[in-house]
Amino acid sequence: METYDRVNQFLGNRILEIGCGGGQLAQEICSKIKVERYVGFEVNSRLTRDMIDNPPDNFEFVKTNAHDVRYNPRGMFVVVPEGEFNTVIGKSWMTHVTMNVLSTYTAWFAKRLCSGGHMIQTCFIDEELAGSFDAGCLHTYYSRESLENLSEHFELISVDMGGWVGGIHFAPHDIAVWRRL
Ligand SMILES: C[S@@+](CC[C@H](N)C(=O)[O-])C[C@H]1O[C@@H](n2cnc3c(N)ncnc32)[C@H](O)[C@@H]1O
Repeated sequence: METYDRVNQFLGNRILEIGCGGGQLAQEICSKIKVERYVGFEVNSRLTRDMIDNPPDNFEFVKTNAHDVRYNPRGMFVVVPEGEFNTVIGKSWMTHVTMNVLSTYTAWFAKRLCSGGHMIQTCFIDEELAGSFDAGCLHTYYSRESLENLSEHFELISVDMGGWVGGIHFAPHDIAVWRRL
């Protein structure tokens, strides 16, 4: 199942994507729905070069200098895009950060969501491996409970967890969705 098919029930028309990479998801979503604004937020503009040259309608690229051990090892600070969104989405982004970074980002990005808006992430939910960070492939695994608890502090409620085997490359992903109160 394509990502769009799994997430479309939660999508709004003002979308902020964390870790938009080469823009495949932005292109997929913008080819299916008319967006008023789509901000792609990335640490690594090399990955996004093709899309910057050939963006979908109403797409804006925001480069941030957040630290990422694989994609931006010298990064030092984060620039959070301005404005209010009804969707914050990230595909295979939170697989590359630790729970601390995820909590910090969730705090910042939840504030950018309007009431009733959704935060949607694809990730690895794995009860056996949860809490571990696989330094070999730089992957983090989460437990369902830790993701559900994450929402408590940020005026988010968890509305959909797990149950998806799409993803990128070889890796089957789960999905995590929260709604802003
Ligand atoms: C595995 S790639 C996925 C790219 C894209 N979402 C896709 O599905 O093809 C992870 C992406 O997250 C970006 N990224 C990693 N850490 C980030 C951070 N702290 N803030 C924003 N983007 C980040 C990386 O640069 C990379 O493009």
